[in-house]
Amino acid sequence: MPKSSQHPTLSSVPPEPPPHPPVVMIEGVELHLAHPDRFTLHWVGQEELVKQLTAAWLVVDEDDQPLNPRVVGAPGVGKTTLAYATATRLGMETYLFQATMDTRPEDLLITPVIAENQRIKYVASPLVTAMIRGGVCVLDEGNRMGEKCWASLAPLLDARRYVESVIAGVKIKAHPAFRFCTTMNEDASTFDIPEYIQSRLQPQIFVDFPGEGEERRILKDNLPFADEALLGYMVEFLQRAHQTGEPYSVRDGINVVRYAVKLMKQDGLTVVEAWRMALGMILGRKGVEEAGGASL
Ligand SMILES: Nc1ncnc2c1ncn2[C@@H]1O[C@H](COP(=O)(O)OP(=O)(O)OP(=O)(O)O)[C@@H](O)[C@H]1O
Ligand SMILES: [Mg+2]
Repeated sequence: MPKSSQHPTLSSVPPEPPPHPPVVMIEGVELHLAHPDRFTLHWVGQEELVKQLTAAWLVVDEDDQPLNPRVVGAPGVGKTTLAYATATRLGMETYLFQATMDTRPEDLLITPVIAENQRIKYVASPLVTAMIRGGVCVLDEGNRMGEKCWASLAPLLDARRYVESVIAGVKIKAHPAFRFCTTMNEDASTFDIPEYIQSRLQPQIFVDFPGEGEERRILKDNLPFADEALLGYMVEFLQRAHQTGEPYSVRDGINVVRYAVKLMKQDGLTVVEAWRMALGMILGRKGVEEAGGASL
């Protein structure tokens, strides 16, 4: 952590990634590092969630160690945005690793690739790069990858803070500033995480649907060019959906409004026409039926 590894300060400006050497030597092995991710993702509202995450990452004493939180919640509710935006607000290099059911343990750690003259080049994953550089790794949708992958991270997620790459034959110790979190989705295409791993992925930070004012600010922040009336319809629709347990999320709202804005611009539709059409094409007939009760 560049400012202070113990008490990071929050800033709203994402950091410039410092230039860093693309290659490091670890135990005599040359490792090619990944680049940090740079997105303009802002977190709006629910500041207590940011605080829950920064508290988990805080180190209060030299005998203390950071926790490895798990960000959970419904699809599209803002889990990845929360993790990424909090890490960049702390001024840290941030590395996203998208887990999938095809992720192999070596993808998480070090992959060998054939370089010039048939030489093997070892490429560090975003996770291992974050460990070496002292950045944050957000392992996104962590429960899409299987148990073997998690097993390879077990020593990283406890007091040992290292990983072992069998392929490169090296043990990599995490930089003291390294921080980790994972996001997890609750849908059918996920694995159950074994208990010994779950116990290392604590605390759980639950991202709930935002309240009305916050939802409006989130939509406005993502779509500052959208018509106010359009935003109003969308917020009303989403709030009703949250209350009745329908799974529509902020992401759905952003998609609908974004498309409606395009329809208005291209085809000269009115706000109501564009909103209804976008709703139908993005959320389907059910979405339109549910909007029946909205103030249109
Ligand atoms: N509090 C928020 N502040 C700013 N943007 C938000 C917020 N919540 C959601 N969003 C926006 O909603 C969209 C979905 O967010 P995100 O991808 O983080 O959700 P997720 O929970 O990770 O989704 P998934 O379950 O599909 O992984 C993004 O465009 C994001 O910018
Ligand atoms: Mg996500």
